Amino acid sequence: MTKDLLLPAPRDEGADAGGEPLLEVSGLTKHFPVKGGFPIRRTIGAVQAVDGIDLSVRVGESFGLVGESGCGKSTTGRLITRLMEPTAGTISYRGKDISRASRRELAPIRSEIQMIFQDPYSSLNPRQTVGKIISGPMEINGIEPPGGREKRVRELLEIVGLNPEHFNRFPHEFSGGQRQRIGVARALALEPKLIVADEPVSALDVSIQAQVVNLLQKVQRELGIAFLFIAHDLAIVRHFSQRVAVMYLGKIIEVGDRDSIYTRPRHPYTHALLSAVPEVSVAGEQAPARERIRLAGDVPSPIDPPSGCRFRTRCWKAQDKCATEEPPLVQLSGNRAGHLTACHFPEEPTTEAREEDIILDPALAALEEDTSKD
Ligand SMILES: Nc1ncnc2c1ncn2[C@@H]1O[C@H](COP(=O)(O)OP(=O)(O)OP(=O)(O)O)[C@@H](O)[C@H]1O
Ligand code: SF4
Ligand SMILES: [Mg+2]
Repeated sequence: MTKDLLLPAPRDEGADAGGEPLLEVSGLTKHFPVKGGFPIRRTIGAVQAVDGIDLSVRVGESFGLVGESGCGKSTTGRLITRLMEPTAGTISYRGKDISRASRRELAPIRSEIQMIFQDPYSSLNPRQTVGKIISGPMEINGIEPPGGREKRVRELLEIVGLNPEHFNRFPHEFSGGQRQRIGVARALALEPKLIVADEPVSALDVSIQAQVVNLLQKVQRELGIAFLFIAHDLAIVRHFSQRVAVMYLGKIIEVGDRDSIYTRPRHPYTHALLSAVPEVSVAGEQAPARERIRLAGDVPSPIDPPSGCRFRTRCWKAQDKCATEEPPLVQLSGNRAGHLTACHFPEEPTTEAREEDIILDPALAALEEDTSKD
């Protein structure tokens, strides 16, 4: 396998990695109205997609946001990049509240916050050349880099590992991984300080995922760009993020530095995410016996989430109190500074029962297997 496929070993920056806050989100909420009734359609409820989350991303840091499908990750990303208006809460960027800033007020910082989307096929205009796509943000913002836009496009293509001579080609002439590289080049065009990457590798072939993760990691470290890295799987975030937050039904239920979340998780849901294993190992053999937590049932509807703790309908530790009192996100005794958990009856901070790191997605299991051979 190529050197590019190697994922660097996770580094532990610790809970107190410090660093100036770049983005601070407080009480962020997005409720989508649900309409119904006849003949007059009225609002009859709301999808509580994001319900009062707090998080912060420091300058140059990669912050991972993880959770099952529908828990509100993309909505959070879209709120932060102001592609959507929040229902409530504040978003502060470099100390300035931008949650309700107008287009004109946002203009000076628009270039500093960029987004990379999940699907490299639909996020690139098929009728535009790569040069046009990557220089698009410069054009919109009236930016003329020294040496001209074409020179900058060529530099960006080189940074993301593409041939600078290909700036005149169209997206269909590139593979999925290469298209995602084009997406990364476009996000870098305005020299952003924060990139919100919404599942940037989930649509890619397993063999390509590690290459793109490596590229993003290089960008983060060498250009000092902060990332909000959204993923449904804890495995991919582990390679990329210094801090990790776990979301469930619109809420953050656990957050902390990577090492603390992976080796001393306290919330039952985090334990479950870490211990969910594929039935069969990638080689087709039965996986070795170990204690596993299997999540029963589906995620409840965000239109009518469970009272108290939203995880209680799937939680093996639930008691009466869990139905009546919402657990606050707090630092439990024994947890490292900055490791917060929202649970009335937390798990012991251990993962001893698990023999190895666990991956929900069989495709990622194959990736881990592949990279561990080197
Ligand atoms: N524009 C919208 N109108 C109504 N409901 C929406 C809208 N966008 C998202 N939702 C709902 O909000 C909830 C959260 O959606 P979101 O896309 O943020 O989840 P997600 O965590 O990104 O999921 P996935 O892993 O599948 O991408 C879901 O129940 C979704 O159906
Ligand atoms: S608060 Fe109760 S239901 Fe919620 S995760 Fe903790 S034990 Fe389970
Ligand atoms: Mg999503």
